[in-house]
Amino acid sequence: MTIHTIPDTAADRIGDVVRRQPAAHSLQQALYNSPEAFRHDMERVFLRHWILAGHQSSAPNPGDWFVHEMAEESVIIVRGKDLRLRAFVNVCRHRGSRICRSASGHASVLVCPYHAWSYDLDGSLRAARLMPADFDRSRYGLKPVHLEVIEGLVFISLAAKPLSLDKARSAIAGAYGTYGWASAKVAHRETYAVGANWKLAVENYLECYHCTPAHPEYSKLHALERPLEIADLNAAMEARTLELGVNVPTMDHRVASSTGEASVFTFRYALYEGVKTGAPDGHPVAPLMGAFHDYDGGVTSTHFAPSSFFIAYPDHGVLYRFVPLAPKSSALEIVWLVKGDAREGRDYDLDKLTWLWRVTTEADKRITEDAQKGVDSRFYEPGPYSPAEPNVIAWMAWYLEEIA
Ligand code: FES
Ligand SMILES: [Fe+2]
Repeated sequence: MTIHTIPDTAADRIGDVVRRQPAAHSLQQALYNSPEAFRHDMERVFLRHWILAGHQSSAPNPGDWFVHEMAEESVIIVRGKDLRLRAFVNVCRHRGSRICRSASGHASVLVCPYHAWSYDLDGSLRAARLMPADFDRSRYGLKPVHLEVIEGLVFISLAAKPLSLDKARSAIAGAYGTYGWASAKVAHRETYAVGANWKLAVENYLECYHCTPAHPEYSKLHALERPLEIADLNAAMEARTLELGVNVPTMDHRVASSTGEASVFTFRYALYEGVKTGAPDGHPVAPLMGAFHDYDGGVTSTHFAPSSFFIAYPDHGVLYRFVPLAPKSSALEIVWLVKGDAREGRDYDLDKLTWLWRVTTEADKRITEDAQKGVDSRFYEPGPYSPAEPNVIAWMAWYLEEIA
């Protein structure tokens, strides 16, 4: 696939901004709000990296499809008659119309709504009305997109030569295999419109410095924001995990794409004593998953560059995706996973299952949008990160290297 690059002059201007960027400080205004920087982010980050598109249970049967949208790109993920998941650019080979127009659906053939060219589930052009007799349909199949499934998570890459997923595969399969995510199902999916640059949304996710002022619900359950208590709580959690005979490997493989590899960081941390899961009062909300036959009071968390995050409790999982739409507009999608055979109403209550990350995300949306308003001011200047924001500092250094 040919990827169009921005003119050198614009790249040079971004290069100048990156060179002026003070270390361990929030970004300069132009990187948070200019169309030029946004375009650069798309090309240097989102068209180069693997992106989490969803969970395979969103398309269980042949003909089931869902769409991944970001800025001007749209990708169809569809289950073929051979049960294989494939991904295609959602652009008709006739005159470019979007083919799939909603978030998900089912079809035995993908039909373009414009002039009704139709495509088989393997992307090949099946029929094109009123085209000449010598028209060679084999040259006009949908453009394929790289797709990998790891423990049920569907990743896509729009890069001509995708980054290696070897390390990421072993980190993700190791950790989430234990939670049985390959056989999990999507219990709920929610998309929030965030009126802010995607990096402000990611930065906010990466730190818990704001948890006490912004997230009373989260802070009652998770000990992540208390550096003094967390070491003891983590040790007690690890002892409980060991006692359960459960192994959740972790990996810190945060690397630049210049290494040719995808960046992944999987770590664990404790909930407060007596808290079993991320739910009202810390009480269980769904059947235990995978190898867990009891609660260990822990959370397994992954940062998958550039903007996807996974959280596992023993009874449910949460996928977080920040999607760039425009310089000051992003989508935040949350997917809740439960055990594959769990039934809503019988085994879990959707309100209780989704409560924590709904209230947390509503607060995050507000504080992120406030941050964008402040950053847009002519009086804004980059401010110093706190030592309590180490993951933001690391991620920003990674990001700046990606766009430099
Ligand atoms: S643009 Fe799709 S059939 Fe014409
Ligand atoms: Fe938050």
